[in-house]
Amino acid sequence: MKLVEPPLISTPAIEQRLKLLAQEITDYYRDKPLTVLGLLNGSIFFLVDLVRLLPLETQLECWRVQSYVGQQSSGTLQGLESCQAELRGRSVLLIDDILDTGLTLHSVQTRARELGASEVDICVLLRKNRVRQIEVETRWVGFDIADEFVVGYGLDFNGHYRGLRAIHLMGE
Ligand code: XMP
Repeated sequence: MKLVEPPLISTPAIEQRLKLLAQEITDYYRDKPLTVLGLLNGSIFFLVDLVRLLPLETQLECWRVQSYVGQQSSGTLQGLESCQAELRGRSVLLIDDILDTGLTLHSVQTRARELGASEVDICVLLRKNRVRQIEVETRWVGFDIADEFVVGYGLDFNGHYRGLRAIHLMGE
């Protein structure tokens, strides 16, 4: 498998979209007790770039969970049992790199609600156009993409390509 050029989503396109998302998110959470909850490792660059565009008093939490092995979802989510945070009465904004099967975001949203969050909304950079194993409602989406494997800007293929500044397809 190798990287496809040119990128599917360029660096300027990502930057421009993030500014718009940040405006909408700021308007929504003004006067609410916001906790931004990022899922590592994939959302790391999206999380950092987005949070720095929010002129809000924000608490930041990061949870480390994993469902993918190589290019396949393993069907189970690892790491959620050790995810803890004081979320009672907080408005939680869940940030992830990509919505694929829905397993990760559904499980994490359920966990955040169990920990007492008053609302849990979701912002993903990418949403794959596919039938999901579990339906998940996303309030904010950076880009809708086809059901293909992508890397870059936090997304990896077995640990590779995470640091690329744009988002690329992988091809033969
Ligand atoms: P689910 O299936 O739980 O997937 O919605 C969410 C997690 O799976 C990873 N994922 C990908 N990683 N390229 C990647 O590098 C992809 O195309 C891709 N699709 C899913 C990702 O970690 C995401 O948080």
